[in-house]
This record gives sequence, structure tokens and C-alpha cells, in this order.
Amino acid sequence: MTQNECNPHFPKLFSPMRIGKLEVKNRFVVPAVTTNFAEPNGDVGDRLINYLAARAQGGFGLIVTENLGVHESGRVMPRMGMADTDERIPHLARLAQAVKSTVRFSWDRSVTQAVRRAARSRANRCSRRRHSPAR
Ligand SMILES: Cc1cc2nc3c(=O)[nH]c(=O)nc-3n(C[C@H](O)[C@H](O)[C@H](O)COP(=O)(O)O)c2cc1C
Repeated sequence: MTQNECNPHFPKLFSPMRIGKLEVKNRFVVPAVTTNFAEPNGDVGDRLINYLAARAQGGFGLIVTENLGVHESGRVMPRMGMADTDERIPHLARLAQAVKSTVRFSWDRSVTQAVRRAARSRANRCSRRRHSPAR
């Protein structure tokens, strides 16, 4: 018996879906939820990685990370994960690898949410600082 047959009221829950070019193995999605699990310096470390890897292990087809700052102006919490410099890449790659290596099918995916304070946000209006768009 397939998982779909076990759940006749939700026949699509366990079936793959396509989001643009992205194929996801089921309809279970971890939404972006801020954890404050990043390291104090903004690196994505063991705590956040283990937290998301456990969700991948549980079978979610798609994992959206919490917001990650792509510029210092986007650091809005003490333990906010940052993706603002090349030095962060190995940590982010470790997260991607941990999530991928715990899932059974090659099409499992995670996506990340990039946050950068808008140029017209209150804080920036007050400081009169402006930033160019993140690359
Ligand atoms: C504690 C908490 C943290 C959240 N963090 C984020 C976040 O970092 N980024 C984001 O886009 N949404 C965030 N959300 C919103 C959730 O992703 C959203 O509530 C979830 O997708 C459920 O959608 P709904 O509120 O429309 O039911 C957060 C929600 C909660 C309760």
C-alpha cells in the first residue's frame, strides 16, 4: 500500500510537486521560522544545522531556512544567521550538505530566505544611511 492510499483524504500530500524547475518529493514544507540558533558571530553552526537536518530526516520535502542577513544592515537579532561575506560560504555549504545527506531522494531541496533591511526602513531613514542592493 502506498502512502497516498493510506491517506485517502489527502491524496496529494505524499506526491511530488514542481515549483518552476524545482522538483520536491512531497508537499510537506518547513516554513521560515526564526530560531535564534545561529552562532553569536552570525555563522550558521551546529545548532541550526542539526535542527534543520532533523527536519530533513523527518521527511519534509522542502525546507525554507529562517531569514539570513545578506548585509550587516539586515542583522536584526543577536543570533541571526548571516550570508553576507564569502567567509560564510563553508558554513552555509555545511548546512546544505547536512540537509541533503539526511534525505533519501536526490530531489529533496532546501531554500533560503535572504533579508536585507530596506533602504527606506525606519532605522535607515533615521541614520540617513543608504546601501546599494545586495548582490
Ligand atoms: C516564531 C516564528 C518565527 C518566524 N520566522 C519567520 C522568518 O524568519 N521568515 C519568514 O518569512 N516568516 C517567519 N515566520 C512566519 C512563518 O513562516 C509563517 O507563520 C508560517 O509560514 C505559517 O504561515 P501562516 O502564519 O500563514 O499560517 C515566523 C513565524 C513564527 C511563529
